[in-house]
Amino acid sequence: MTRKNKAKPVSRAALSGEADPRLVALSVSIQDDGALHAEDIRGSQAHVTMLAKQGIVPAAVARRLVKALDRVRDEFAAGKIRFDPALEDVHTHVERRLGELTGKDAGYLHAGRSRNDQVALDERLFIVGACDRTDAALGRLQRALCLQGRRHQRTILPGYTHLQRAQPVSLAHHLLAHVEMLGRDRQRLAEVRARAAVSPLGSGALAATTLKLDREAVAKALGLAGVTRNSLDAVSDRDSAIELLFAVALSAVHLSRLGEEIVLWTTREFGFMTLDDAFATGSSLMPQKKNPDVGELARGRAGRAIGDLVALLSIVKNLPLSYNRDLQEDKRPLLSGPEALALTADALAGAVETATFHAGRMEEALGGGEALATDAAEYLVERGVPFREAHEAVGAAAKLAARLGKPLAALDAAEWRSLHRRFDADVLRCFDARRSLSRRELPGGPGPKAVAGELRRWERSLGIRR
Ligand code: ARG
Repeated sequence: MTRKNKAKPVSRAALSGEADPRLVALSVSIQDDGALHAEDIRGSQAHVTMLAKQGIVPAAVARRLVKALDRVRDEFAAGKIRFDPALEDVHTHVERRLGELTGKDAGYLHAGRSRNDQVALDERLFIVGACDRTDAALGRLQRALCLQGRRHQRTILPGYTHLQRAQPVSLAHHLLAHVEMLGRDRQRLAEVRARAAVSPLGSGALAATTLKLDREAVAKALGLAGVTRNSLDAVSDRDSAIELLFAVALSAVHLSRLGEEIVLWTTREFGFMTLDDAFATGSSLMPQKKNPDVGELARGRAGRAIGDLVALLSIVKNLPLSYNRDLQEDKRPLLSGPEALALTADALAGAVETATFHAGRMEEALGGGEALATDAAEYLVERGVPFREAHEAVGAAAKLAARLGKPLAALDAAEWRSLHRRFDADVLRCFDARRSLSRRELPGGPGPKAVAGELRRWERSLGIRR
């Protein structure tokens, strides 16, 4: 900041002397909330323009302030504003710089406004933008998953429960499961955005103002859908921030699950997947290493996201109405959480999009028919056998196969018949994974037609053209 003298500290009109440096050090937040400068300035421009329309501020002054605020924003963005602890937060830094540029005129800006409704507005504007940025990044990851899904509709692997091989699914079906999770995340973000997009300006410190403000006009100028309905609530409500951090935390948890599968699938033990070198990392010691840090960081980041949510909930817990300075502590989790999620989603998108999936290894993992034991039980059900009885017969078949030292699929027709009289030779057809999948054409199932339909639906909604 271009200043000759030491900055006058934040208003201490009723106090004598300066604040103790230890209090100043505790109070300062510009290192965090400086990131809200663009939102803060947008709000101020809308506010002062309205003040002029209402005849509270001379029109020429308002025009001058709006222009000067443009300049302050550019200076902030260019890192040209030097932070001064005595000025505490972004609001005061903007106001001081405006004062340097416009002199006494700057003093008109804050009429009918408090830093309490101002910071509430800044955060709401930030939340709207953060929802949009996060949504876009999650959309990019969905597209990467769909791209691989389209390539791998005929690639079959075991689906897992308890991390044990369970039943066959296509890789496309597996990847689309992640697309579904991200789809719900994006719906949640849209809902958070809609609830956040109202203006608290005009609530003042807590009890509005005697000035005749046009709250609706400010909201409209800022692209917000309406105004908050209770001034006490408006200055102390952080629900939208909490909701955003919840949406971010849950989405981060989803990304951690994808990350975990990348970690597992790229092991020599699984061998289902190879990361492109551009998305793999080496070891500083072991020259042979190719590490899936991208998946590990996705897991680790989820821990941070959950922590951010818990931090903010704890800050708001027990606060009496209305504004309390505790609320200033919301900045760091709110400002860093959504950004971290978007970075994670983008890195995962790149990793997924460029990865190679190994269809041969996946098919090998289907093993000797164990993954199709349920099909053999359902074979009996189709022949009128109660499911529990069928379940037992196939269980006995698994034991027999183990005793004979061969895979389940290698039992012959006579052996099946010895276990239940309703088994015929055609039971052996159950042990064809592709046939099994083709018979699972229920909505939401892994049948190739069902999956192709889901893939088309997602591609259409994600704007993927083929
Ligand atoms: N930096 C403050 C915050 O983030 C702005 C509001 C300050 N209000 C006050 N009464 N001290 O909460």
